[in-house]
Amino acid sequence: MYSSEQTRSLQLTTKALLEKVKANTVKVKDIDDLRSALRFHEHRYYILNDPLISDFEYDSLYKQLEKLEEANPGLIIPDSPTQRVAKGLTKDFPTVQHLVPMLSLENSYNADDLIDWDRKAKELTGEKEIEYCVEPKFDGASISLIYENDILVRGATRGDGVEGDDITTNIRQIRSVPLSAKFSSYNIQQIELRGEVLMNKNSFKKYNEQLAEQNLPPLANPRNAASGSLRIKDPREVSRRNLEAFLYHASYFTLKDEGGKKKKSSSANNPPETHSASLEMLWDLGFRSPQKEKKILNGIQAVIKYCNEFESTRDGLPYEIDGMVIKVNDFAMQDKMGMTTHHPRWAIAFKFKARQGTSKLLKVEFQVGRTGSITPVAKIEPVPIGGVTVTSISLFNEDVVREKDLKIGDTVLVERSGDVIPYIVKPLIELRNGKEKNIVFPTHCPICGNKLVKPEDEAVWRCVNRNCPEQVIARIIHFVSKDAMDIRSFGEANVRKFFELGFLEDVPGVYGLPFDKIRKLEGFGEKSIDNLQTAIEASKKQPLHRLVYALGIRYVGETTAKVLAKAISYLPDFKNFSLEDLQHLEDVGPKVAGSIYQFFHDKDNIRLLEMLEANGLNLRTTKSKKNAAGNLDGQTFLFTGTLSKLKRTEAEEKVEEHGGTILGGVSSKLNYLVVGEDAGSKLEKAKKIPSIKILSENEFLEFING
Ligand code: IVH
Repeated sequence: MYSSEQTRSLQLTTKALLEKVKANTVKVKDIDDLRSALRFHEHRYYILNDPLISDFEYDSLYKQLEKLEEANPGLIIPDSPTQRVAKGLTKDFPTVQHLVPMLSLENSYNADDLIDWDRKAKELTGEKEIEYCVEPKFDGASISLIYENDILVRGATRGDGVEGDDITTNIRQIRSVPLSAKFSSYNIQQIELRGEVLMNKNSFKKYNEQLAEQNLPPLANPRNAASGSLRIKDPREVSRRNLEAFLYHASYFTLKDEGGKKKKSSSANNPPETHSASLEMLWDLGFRSPQKEKKILNGIQAVIKYCNEFESTRDGLPYEIDGMVIKVNDFAMQDKMGMTTHHPRWAIAFKFKARQGTSKLLKVEFQVGRTGSITPVAKIEPVPIGGVTVTSISLFNEDVVREKDLKIGDTVLVERSGDVIPYIVKPLIELRNGKEKNIVFPTHCPICGNKLVKPEDEAVWRCVNRNCPEQVIARIIHFVSKDAMDIRSFGEANVRKFFELGFLEDVPGVYGLPFDKIRKLEGFGEKSIDNLQTAIEASKKQPLHRLVYALGIRYVGETTAKVLAKAISYLPDFKNFSLEDLQHLEDVGPKVAGSIYQFFHDKDNIRLLEMLEANGLNLRTTKSKKNAAGNLDGQTFLFTGTLSKLKRTEAEEKVEEHGGTILGGVSSKLNYLVVGEDAGSKLEKAKKIPSIKILSENEFLEFING
């Protein structure tokens, strides 16, 4: 897409623009440069996964463009980087016809199926051996895009294959979909593309965590998350979900010259004549096509080998795939083979082993959570799925159980895709024998016996007894957990053990454990006691946002905890915040504000904070008194490769806590590159810039700890 020369020139443009931003001297004449630079950096970030500037720098350029366009609305163009974002809600998604029907694919499940299909393909084409293009089968929601005169004019869902819904506004929120692309340089006037919208595994996990924070049921898998997101009426919400799109097929195009007939022009590239050339074209035009993943192979045996190899990499991919797609590469040959009403004869899907299995629902247990929520958990006959044995599945809440019409004794279909938690897809009703029993929900807490309540606007039953032993245990487990106070050697098992023995009664008790008694327990050597004591001591100095998160305030996840910690210098001061004050904080709506307000106006919670402070915990923001041992003020850092001791986010957090800054890419502005395992191009690049110091993870830890 960008030659090295163009890359260099755009980097210079970026540098000049950033300097102008700093000096506040950006002018209208810079508008084209701003757009080119922003498009270039979006491509680096969303397509190549290799940003050259930090998010902060990108945002500062973006804001300048917004400002200029606001002052000069006449200069706004439809494919300006600012024009993705839409204001207001979409009224409806009108039905539109696809230029070419969106067919499905024939499925195959093993080598024999493929050998059979290859034989038929050879018969139909009269070839001895066929050249195939093999690529992943992305597991998301399929879309069609139309570009006319280089501009994205329409995006639609598959619908029934003939007609779909016009979701152009939502498609524009997907940053890997270019708003314009130079198809004209291939002599193409109009083109219809096919692709798949995905939510990658990481975004999916984060999204489900957010749902959990709001007590909403998690989405079953990234596929449902993608298709559901495409039909949301608020485009800004679509944007927040970080969708991605792979484009893998050009279903139709017309040429610019001679009313649609092909004419060679010396300056233009030729329109593609093979599938692989069309993937290359898309890649060159800035789309995310499976350019790197595809392979051109002769004969079916090589295809089978590649499919099997690719299957073994499945878990390591950032997104879900459910198989491979094998396509006859040559377009002329494809035309000769034609299609049925259901699928093209020139392509076939090779489906990977299903991550589904059937099992029997033996019983439903009811677990009490940290906030008293009662969660039904299905206990099923052990069933192996995708390399793990599943025995226990959360059913989330009563509504989910009712919607699925589950009964004890049912044979159930269980799915576990990738690293996603398993879930029950449905009961196999046709296998019922009449002996199945209804699932009865308890009216009283299974632990403390208190009467359960169900607030009107919620789907969850709750035990409102804050001293219910299971809630207390869950609160302590959360408090010591890795993302909260991170008291490593504590763990759930120890919390339960100490609680049962009466060594630990509530959260503050973590800081007053009777070590003389613990020492006498089996399995507690000097070393493990030492480790535990050190970890507990170290937790007293955790930054404030971790404590805020650890307190387990309802609806306050890690992100909101950071917002809260930033807003204050002494935690108990929140008791002086009104509901309105709280709602002025970033991303804090009425529901979250209500919960925070309640927390800081509850005398038990205030007492809890006092006790924690008396135990030496830090209730103040540490930002102002930077760690003298490792003051990183003004120093810039970048991480590459996989770290073994810290999560990437934790490492970055440490840098920021010490006053340092994280950069988006390797440049002469970078002071330190911290290198984990399998570091790639960033390390190579950094080695060429002598001023950059390269640190291993251990060196980094030593450095930061002074
Ligand atoms: S080609 C006419 N290629 O799988 C050819 N489809 O089960 C159209 N899919 O409806 C399809 N990855 O939504 C093709 N690399 C890929 C694909 C792919 C995923 C989806 C597509 C299709 C479905 C059929």
